[in-house]
Amino acid sequence: MPKSFITPCRSALKTALIVAGMLSMSLACADPLKVCSDPDNMPFSKSEGSDKGLYIELAEMVGKRLGTSVEYVWWLSHNQRRAVRNTMDSCDAYFALPATADYKVRGAEKTHAFLDVGYAIVGPASFKLDALEDLKGKRVGVLHGSPPHVLLSSETGYEPRNYRTQEDIFAALAAGEVELAILWGPSAGFENQTTMNNRWKITPVAGQGLNGQIAVAVSKNKPELKEKINQALTDLQPEIKKLQHKYGFPQAVPVMLDAKASWLHTSNQVAGGAAPAGKAKVVVNPEQAKLSHAKADFTDLGPYMRKVADSEIENAKSNFNSRCSHCHGQNGASPQQERDLRKLKIRYADKWQEVAHTTITKGRPDLGMPTWGGTISEDDIQRIIQFLSTIQK
Ligand code: HEC
Repeated sequence: MPKSFITPCRSALKTALIVAGMLSMSLACADPLKVCSDPDNMPFSKSEGSDKGLYIELAEMVGKRLGTSVEYVWWLSHNQRRAVRNTMDSCDAYFALPATADYKVRGAEKTHAFLDVGYAIVGPASFKLDALEDLKGKRVGVLHGSPPHVLLSSETGYEPRNYRTQEDIFAALAAGEVELAILWGPSAGFENQTTMNNRWKITPVAGQGLNGQIAVAVSKNKPELKEKINQALTDLQPEIKKLQHKYGFPQAVPVMLDAKASWLHTSNQVAGGAAPAGKAKVVVNPEQAKLSHAKADFTDLGPYMRKVADSEIENAKSNFNSRCSHCHGQNGASPQQERDLRKLKIRYADKWQEVAHTTITKGRPDLGMPTWGGTISEDDIQRIIQFLSTIQK
């Protein structure tokens, strides 16, 4: 008997033998998915308790999609890179790691990025942040040696105050010792939600070292697994959003603090892994301002298009930005040539909509573009193409 018949779905097997016959069952009953994760890293993962964290709940959902159960190998990740190196031998997938190209793990490849994370400003509800300057002259609590500490100390006019732990910083905030704090967004959001009744306003920020993306590392010994997990992560995007909400992750669009490296830029590099980190120069997003006023060009309707209202285009745009922007940039304006969706018309002339439709529906899996047919409805795909027509150069 093949190994896959033994565990983990013995009881299901019985029924299935009767109902569907053995062949189909051998497809559904795979070996368990062995997932490595940190046993004590909330809100990401935890080995005990009822709320297991975003990674673990996600791993369970991925397992389900793959038709297999999940087994955990718990590994403290104080020294993450080393932990992963040692660990990848004993697991199929590691939930989860920085998606940056320079963050390589021996014995593993990475899926595409599925989660944005970063630092966040914690302050009173009345505080509004538009730019770094808004922190000038304010007492700002930072973790000693953290990127926000480095950033504030390297510029003049700022008053970072150092603390050792997030707990100390929250206490300093409550005592009025500091007016604001810059903390790791997910853990500050989680703490604020679970123990402080959302007393503080949390505003995510972006910039060099301040934000990035997360991917799953997949063992090289299981080459077929990477694409399957990729597809599952794509399909599970709405669920991932819900988990972020459940665990208090800040979800607003981050405010750019460090103009040396834009959010747009960072997110494309890390998702794609193609561009070397920190190379290209950044323009802080003139496209965005332009786009908010952009109207659909109805003279440009191809065979795949139907006329849609401006409000539908707005919806399509936010759909695009929630599903596609981590690879294609906010509003499709990726600095990476082959991902810049503003150039479809230049590239394919009057065939561009057809190419876009085929590419979105069927994907280019070997090149890193997921398949969306089945995940996004035909109508919504057409609306996204309508939105894309508003950004063509
Ligand atoms: C995981 C990353 C990723 C996500 C998410 C993603 N794409 Fe892509 N997409 C790519 C890559 C990489 C390419 C370029 C493939 C190549 O080199 O041919 C691409 C190519 C495309 C192209 C063709 C570009 C061209 O010039 O040939 C279109 C259109 C497109 N994507 C639309 C979308 C839309 C719409 C979404 C969201 C529903 C989306 N993509 C989500 C990675 C992604």
